[in-house]
Amino acid sequence: MFCKALLAAALAATALAGPCKPKTPTLPISPEGTLAPATGFVLKKIAMGHGIQNYTCANTSAPAVAAGALAVLYDVTDMYPLPGKGLPDIAAFNALSSTILHAANIPLNFANAAAADPNNQLPTTDYLVAEGDPFVPEADLTLGEQNFPFLGRHYFDVAGRPTFDLSRTEDKLLASVAKKGEAKVPATADKGVLGTGAVLWLKLDDNAAGIGRGVQVVYRVITAGGVAPSCSVINGPKGNVPYTAFYWFYG
Ligand SMILES: *[C@@H]1O[C@H](CO)[C@@H](O)[C@H](O)[C@H]1NC(C)=O
Ligand SMILES: *[C@@H]1O[C@H](CO)[C@@H](O)[C@H](O)[C@H]1NC(C)=O
Repeated sequence: MFCKALLAAALAATALAGPCKPKTPTLPISPEGTLAPATGFVLKKIAMGHGIQNYTCANTSAPAVAAGALAVLYDVTDMYPLPGKGLPDIAAFNALSSTILHAANIPLNFANAAAADPNNQLPTTDYLVAEGDPFVPEADLTLGEQNFPFLGRHYFDVAGRPTFDLSRTEDKLLASVAKKGEAKVPATADKGVLGTGAVLWLKLDDNAAGIGRGVQVVYRVITAGGVAPSCSVINGPKGNVPYTAFYWFYG
């Protein structure tokens, strides 16, 4: 809406018809719900997370229970469309989660190596990672002309706390967080490589455990994939679902 107004004003004033660029990165808002703003904090990084959401099943008629996530984080901060830099427009930027989900190999160490390839739509039990050694070596992601610098890793720690270790940042930013809010995904959200749906958008706050460094609030937005199928489909005690999401870090 803001973008259209800006473009209309520009067109009225001059013949300028370039793509619309805001002055500062603005957290996307789901048309289906609002996440509280990170008042008093500044944006530190925008990352693209690519990995799996994991789930457990008590039996084939029980609901699937979220049991963590594993993802590699890439730095997309400089791809945000701003005057003089970044991608042409917000739509191109937001499309990165779908693009990466469907075009890039999942950067995890799967027990079944075929699970890394997004063209293989495998049973969720095939996306289980090698216990104790779930990550592949740190590497940037290259897709065509675009390079996505490795930024860090997302995992749940031994106490089950969602953790974002932005190890490549100068000040070694680290978020240890708890869920504070959620928003339904837009109807147009990418349902993922297994077609199960996109995980909710979230606001995650520092959990006050004294673990975090330089990050107070994390948002998960423009999600693609990651929703569990039913336990009858998972058909095992554990199943994982590929996903991508943007993570916005404030501190
Ligand atoms: C399946 O698991 C659920 C959740 O633990 C439990 O309530 C239910 O009784 C179980 N059903 C069967 C058939 O074991
Ligand atoms: C599920 O997620 C946790 C936390 O990130 C991870 O340690 C674990 O290896 C995952 N489990 C499976 C079976 O993929």
